[in-house]
Amino acid sequence: MAVFISICTQKGGTGKTTLTMHMATYYHAIEKRNVIVLDADFPQHSYYNERALEITKLRQDPELIADLQKQGRAPYEVRKVAMADVPALLDQLAGQPDTMVFLDMPGTINIAGYDQVVKRLDYVILPMEADKLTFAAGMMTLDAFAKISRPADKPLKSFLLWNKYKSSERQTIYQSIENMATQRPELGILSTRIKDSVIWKNNRSTIFPHSEIKNLIAEINQKFALN
Ligand SMILES: Nc1ncnc2c1ncn2[C@@H]1O[C@H](COP(=O)(O)OP(=O)(O)O)[C@@H](O)[C@H]1O
Ligand SMILES: [Mg+2]
Repeated sequence: MAVFISICTQKGGTGKTTLTMHMATYYHAIEKRNVIVLDADFPQHSYYNERALEITKLRQDPELIADLQKQGRAPYEVRKVAMADVPALLDQLAGQPDTMVFLDMPGTINIAGYDQVVKRLDYVILPMEADKLTFAAGMMTLDAFAKISRPADKPLKSFLLWNKYKSSERQTIYQSIENMATQRPELGILSTRIKDSVIWKNNRSTIFPHSEIKNLIAEINQKFALN
């Protein structure tokens, strides 16, 4: 069976695309999983465009080609899709064995197909920053998701993930947001915190993995029972 995962929240700039990319690329290249990324984030389609750019660069650089050969796997598929087409696509992909499908979704939820996509998701990761606005956006997203009816045997599992974590920030902000989050029974909290660092920007790639993400992957494997 395929598992459908989305890193999403209604607030832009929280790291949805960056984190999706690090995770999907690591799962594909290091964990040797079958990975497909659906880029439904119209109109930017930054994931899809970044892949296209990387392929162009790769073709011009024998060193990168050698690196890819060393990796031993062709890059995973990144599809540019319209939200309205995603539900049917997910139904097609559902039966694919051992496949992880990552969805990069738009921040706006009032678009055709959105409800039908959410209904099919297995896991949602809400990237969180230490500010009340990001938290509010995350909770609004969860509230909207909770209104969407789902099959009884497929409850949505959602997890808060600290991104752009700053140890210099007042720790009481992290604590108070976590306290609010624990009041939602459907929301778990990932203990791995992704630090605020340019390494995430500089090393993000749809082809070559960055090892720093491995702690998050290990936690997700365990919490999502993906082992
Ligand atoms: N952990 C992080 N540390 C530093 N910069 C980050 C981190 N995560 C994301 N960013 C940067 O924040 C910006 C927004 O990230 P992006 O993934 O495009 O967000 P979204 O897809 O949610 O709009 C990008 O410039 C990205 O490089
Ligand atoms: Mg994005």
